[in-house]
Amino acid sequence: MSILKEILERRSVRQYLDRDVTKEQVMEILEAGRLSLSGSNTQPWRFMVIRDKAKKEKIVAVDHEQEWMMQAPVFIACLADMKSREDEHPIPENTLEDSPDNVVKLVIRDTAIAVSFMILQAQHMGLNTCWTGWYDQREMRTALGISDDYYVSAILTVGYGAESPEQRPRHSMEEILLLDESEA
Ligand SMILES: Cc1cc2nc3c(=O)[nH]c(=O)nc-3n(C[C@H](O)[C@H](O)[C@H](O)COP(=O)(O)O)c2cc1C
Repeated sequence: MSILKEILERRSVRQYLDRDVTKEQVMEILEAGRLSLSGSNTQPWRFMVIRDKAKKEKIVAVDHEQEWMMQAPVFIACLADMKSREDEHPIPENTLEDSPDNVVKLVIRDTAIAVSFMILQAQHMGLNTCWTGWYDQREMRTALGISDDYYVSAILTVGYGAESPEQRPRHSMEEILLLDESEA
């Protein structure tokens, strides 16, 4: 059994069947995020499950009006909680995309790992996802009704795919593997 199968077969899916995803399925996906790894085991990720049509519309409106998202029965808002590192770092004033503050980078980094775990778990369950992140933090926080303590790392669409996209190109191993001279 290799997880490379899920990694190889996963695609960003932007068309979905009119088929529901159960609460149990969503909880299983969230469990993969819950068990993810993080620096100092901080676990900064927080999740919101969104099924309500009006709320989804608000989210899509600020996510660059990507209307295809509405086909997905479930959105998972994946949030990085700045408060999770409050012991070591005060919450920075600028928690937006252009923040130079290290704590923002740390919580975003760790939440991104959890999102990746959830994407692979969904794939394993025969579900499809698309990570979306084409929004302004302030606008998305308003749409979700959350405070500035959170950075919205992703709005993940989840559903049964109605398309099978070709694999997008990837760099070759030679391009990404920076070998030590002695190993070349
Ligand atoms: C941080 C991040 C943000 C993304 N935002 C969007 C988005 O807003 N809309 C979209 O259609 N795809 C989005 N994607 C999907 C990428 O376009 C996609 O992962 C990439 O083209 C590779 O294709 P694949 O996922 O099918 O392998 C995003 C992916 C990541 C990791």
